[in-house]
Amino acid sequence: MYKLWRSFLFLLDAEKAHKLSFKVLKFWFSLPFTGSSAKLDSKLRLSKMGLDFANPIGLAAGFDKNGTHIDEFANFGFGFIEVGTVTPKPQAGNPKPRLFRLIEDEGIINRMGFNNEGVDALISSLKKVKNKSVVIGGNIGKNKVTPNEKAVEDYKICFEKLHPYVHYFVVNVSSPNTPNLRELQEKEPLKALLSTLQEMNVKTSTPKPILLKIAPDLTNEQLDDIIEIVLETNIEGVIANNTTISRDGLKTNLSTVENIGAGGLSGAPLTERSSQVMRYLRSGLKDKVIIGVGGIMTAKDAVQRLKDGADLIQVYSGFVYKGPDLIKNIKEELKNS
Ligand SMILES: Cc1cc2nc3c(=O)[nH]c(=O)nc-3n(C[C@H](O)[C@H](O)[C@H](O)COP(=O)(O)O)c2cc1C
Repeated sequence: MYKLWRSFLFLLDAEKAHKLSFKVLKFWFSLPFTGSSAKLDSKLRLSKMGLDFANPIGLAAGFDKNGTHIDEFANFGFGFIEVGTVTPKPQAGNPKPRLFRLIEDEGIINRMGFNNEGVDALISSLKKVKNKSVVIGGNIGKNKVTPNEKAVEDYKICFEKLHPYVHYFVVNVSSPNTPNLRELQEKEPLKALLSTLQEMNVKTSTPKPILLKIAPDLTNEQLDDIIEIVLETNIEGVIANNTTISRDGLKTNLSTVENIGAGGLSGAPLTERSSQVMRYLRSGLKDKVIIGVGGIMTAKDAVQRLKDGADLIQVYSGFVYKGPDLIKNIKEELKNS
């Protein structure tokens, strides 16, 4: 069924296809005979970060940026859904076209640039969510117009406002599509940002887990710094990885890739690198939570990432290419492994 729908969607511009899918999803799940097709399985249940997950499979950030379709995605059987990246103020993101499929590679290149409706609109959506068991993560960022020196203020605003409405937080400093954002991954600014948020967090009556989302393009030395900072600031853990700026090893011909231009690459080309990063991080972060994302396109990839050391996993491109069957297949494989 998804294969047929996909062959239609792939005829359309990628961003239009995404928007159309969202409309169809709302309509489909509003019909009286539809509902959750996902079976709950006690074997897949797990507790991490003090939260109960129906299963370890999450929808990665950027898919439902404004949190408008959480109930619909929960119906597909995700154990958790990460909304955002959200910024304090709404912003349009980069000019279109900004989303491209590399079908031969089962990849996606995007330079969306944190297009989102802002934190207040996200909160309105979160207030309407009916599903009370799905875990919701809030992925926070800064507005494009905010200079890096003032970035902490943007993260603080999002953190404070969203705090009552999400179960965990993700600090996104790893998108390649907001100019200079990735500089915040450097040791000093990162330590300052995470300590500030963690200080705010522990002062609340219900502190929430905070995770840091990193880029797959960091060197081992930079990963060592990340490990040190995570331990020093005592945040909950890491999400590895965001999209890559690398274009190595693609099957799609070079001129097509060059014509697409700048952006972050995701999907199958990221599988191997994400596994490597996971193993490296796990060796240095024994007791921390690590969420594995990047190139999980099959049930086998999911099992492998968990073996590499992930506590939980997320999918984005795999869901675009394989649809809801990917979730079902991963669950089956996990039950049998
Ligand atoms: C179109 C698109 C938009 C994305 N937007 C965000 C975002 O806003 N925030 C974020 O942290 N990651 C974002 N991501 C990255 C994904 O959450 C994920 O880390 C990355 O795509 C690797 O996973 P995948 O190979 O399963 O796609 C986006 C990815 C894509 C393809």
